[in-house]
Amino acid sequence: MLTVLAFLTLQVVAQTTGQSTLSDANPDSATHPNWAPLQQKFGEQLIRGLPYAQPCFSEGFNSTACNTVRAAYTNEGSRANTTAAYIHTQWETCQTTSQQCLLNFLDLNDSSPTKSPQHCQPGSVPSYFIDVKSADDVQYAFQFAKSHQVPLVIRNTGHDYEGRSSAPGSLALWTHHLKNISYNTQFVPQGCSKASPGITVGAGVQWEDAYAFADSHNITIVGGSDKSVGVAGGWLQGGGHSALSNTMGLGVDRVLQYKVVTPDGHLRIANSCQNQDLFFALRGGGGGTFGVVLEATVLASPPVQLQTVIVSFTSQNTTLSKELWQILADSALTWADQGWGGFSMSNLAILINPVMSKDKVSASMKPLLDFAATIQDSATAQDVQVVVTEFPTWKSFFDAFTSDHVASVGSNLAISSRLIPKSSFSTSQSRESLVNALLSANTATPGLIILLTAPASFKPTERTSVTPAWRDSIYHVTAVATWNWNATTEEKKASYRKSSASIDNLRKITPDAAYVNEADVYEPNYQEAFWGDNYAELLQIKNKYDPDHLLDCWHCVGWNPRSSRYSCYLDV
Ligand SMILES: Cc1cc2nc3c(=O)[nH]c(=O)nc-3n(C[C@H](O)[C@H](O)[C@H](O)COP(=O)(O)OP(=O)(O)OC[C@H]3O[C@@H](n4cnc5c(N)ncnc54)[C@H](O)[C@@H]3O)c2cc1C
Ligand SMILES: *[C@@H]1O[C@H](CO)[C@@H](O)[C@H](O)[C@H]1NC(C)=O
Ligand SMILES: *[C@@H]1O[C@H](CO)[C@@H](O)[C@H](O)[C@H]1NC(C)=O
Ligand SMILES: *[C@@H]1O[C@H](CO)[C@@H](O)[C@H](O)[C@H]1NC(C)=O
Ligand SMILES: *[C@@H]1O[C@H](CO)[C@@H](O)[C@H](O)[C@H]1NC(C)=O
Ligand SMILES: *[C@@H]1O[C@H](CO)[C@@H](O)[C@H](O)[C@H]1NC(C)=O
Ligand SMILES: *[C@@H]1O[C@H](CO)[C@@H](O)[C@H](O)[C@H]1NC(C)=O
Ligand SMILES: *[C@@H]1O[C@H](CO)[C@@H](O)[C@H](O)[C@H]1NC(C)=O
Repeated sequence: MLTVLAFLTLQVVAQTTGQSTLSDANPDSATHPNWAPLQQKFGEQLIRGLPYAQPCFSEGFNSTACNTVRAAYTNEGSRANTTAAYIHTQWETCQTTSQQCLLNFLDLNDSSPTKSPQHCQPGSVPSYFIDVKSADDVQYAFQFAKSHQVPLVIRNTGHDYEGRSSAPGSLALWTHHLKNISYNTQFVPQGCSKASPGITVGAGVQWEDAYAFADSHNITIVGGSDKSVGVAGGWLQGGGHSALSNTMGLGVDRVLQYKVVTPDGHLRIANSCQNQDLFFALRGGGGGTFGVVLEATVLASPPVQLQTVIVSFTSQNTTLSKELWQILADSALTWADQGWGGFSMSNLAILINPVMSKDKVSASMKPLLDFAATIQDSATAQDVQVVVTEFPTWKSFFDAFTSDHVASVGSNLAISSRLIPKSSFSTSQSRESLVNALLSANTATPGLIILLTAPASFKPTERTSVTPAWRDSIYHVTAVATWNWNATTEEKKASYRKSSASIDNLRKITPDAAYVNEADVYEPNYQEAFWGDNYAELLQIKNKYDPDHLLDCWHCVGWNPRSSRYSCYLDV
């Protein structure tokens, strides 16, 4: 009786928030009739996991709400804000059964995805989300997950490329509202004695918020190139690269302290003076594995002026792409030493430097600027743009960058990636192999990105658990493939295979190393690739803090592949 009453209350809560419930099926409440204690404990803090596009389907039709969803479907901010919406939509679906509730991201007015015989089905959207406010909420969720055998996931912004923040029938810890942020010029990690300037963020803070805060305090924090990725969730715990990382380090190099609830229910402080094993694990071992981070403190640096060179051309021309990437490869070692970081695509190079003075830029960048001048003069290349400028702060650069470059959002996407070591740049022969491998990947899957975001000239003073290959690398290279809302299972598998195969020529000439947060979902030998020599130690720490596997995720340290939470991953 209690169960039935609690379930009715849930429906009322859902309706008052403007979302209707799934009419035909509540598979979760059927198989797990014991959500009731959660409702009693959390009340309105417990949110039913209703698919984002449900108001566009007969299961919950509401034309006003549907228009809002259509308008915001490919907006990263809206998706990152919404419990059941994920940045890449396959993680809302069950890929193995094709249960889904999607629109056509290529044509948002297309009505075929929402008409019969299509249905809105929950797929991999968690059954319930707890709007986390305190450590106590997390402790309760751990107990509940353990006693009811319910898979637990942590959902921050939903950016994860490997679907680690959703799972069918799961209970999600939603960290979005942990938005506290503060700055302490003399932050001393608890139990330590040395003070450093530090920014402390709640687990729900996103880069856009953090950059604005840092700018208003005249300081720099090192973070990612996307507004809505979280500061202290997957990004930080898995490594965290930035266009500033060449000289200023990865995110994990700059963490001073974590506040974290481990699966045994303890709220712990992890820093270099206490719970050092946990601190090590949370500096590269990956999100969703060792505990639920409530708060992190990261190093704040003085403001940086950024020397910036941007060269772009509109034409897609393999000859020009090859010349561009050859120039980048020929200068890569020198430029890394001089402090340049940035990005490149087949018709674009953006280089930024926080340590070089303005007068040194044209000599340093001469090969690139000469190339730009040549193609500007030639009749074939169209719209060649060359910008040489100084940005007064990281935020001013970031605002300009994000106004021009927006990531793919609301689509289905398979990524693959490789870390490219310094040795690939040491001889003209190795550079030629590298450039050819980059070109072949970009031919197979157009949209290759070279990220000059490895900590190539940064000297770490403390241990981290990312693959040591990061320290020898200059490039992090990503390739992507996509598929439409109505792709068949075979087509989805083919896209994952295509994305993976496109970097095979890079795999052949590099060590087994890839960034855990932006990796092939089916990365072969992923333990070596993500963590190298650190894996064995990470596994011990996982077993110490989470012997019951309350936190587990795809290709995470110590995961149990047999768990039902992975039933929607394809067998590729
Ligand atoms: C458009 C885009 C741009 C990106 N740009 C960059 C970039 O510039 N640099 C870079 O390094 N990476 C970048 N990434 C990759 C990014 O680091 C990962 O997607 C990362 O997993 C996002 O973390 P999140 O917490 O925001 O997302 P979520 O998907 O919410 O979470 C990701 C993982 O972290 C876990 N997690 C989240 N919060 C917590 C917590 N509080 N405690 C413990 N575990 C937690 C989740 O369980 C999940 O496993 C980008 C990704 C996208 C989609
Ligand atoms: C439809 O959605 C709108 C906006 O989301 C909401 O205000 C309204 O109450 C909903 N209508 C019904 C009948 O649920
Ligand atoms: C996301 O939510 C925040 C508040 O948490 C709000 O300020 C912001 O405007 C929202 N963004 C979008 C795109 O909805
Ligand atoms: C989709 O429909 C809206 C509203 O009817 C309209 O404004 C918009 O131009 C349409 N978009 C496309 C791509 O047809
Ligand atoms: C956020 O900061 C406020 C004010 O300092 C404090 O009262 C509150 O407990 C903090 N919340 C969390 C979750 O840390
Ligand atoms: C910002 O900080 C720098 C160095 O830390 C200092 O030189 C400068 O005066 C500060 N600017 C403002 C506006 O406070
Ligand atoms: C590509 O660029 C090269 C060098 O400028 C030029 O010779 C060639 O004609 C271009 N090819 C195409 C297809 O535009
Ligand atoms: C997928 O849907 C689109 C319209 O959204 C349609 O044009 C296409 O033919 C469909 N493909 C398949 C394989 O059904």
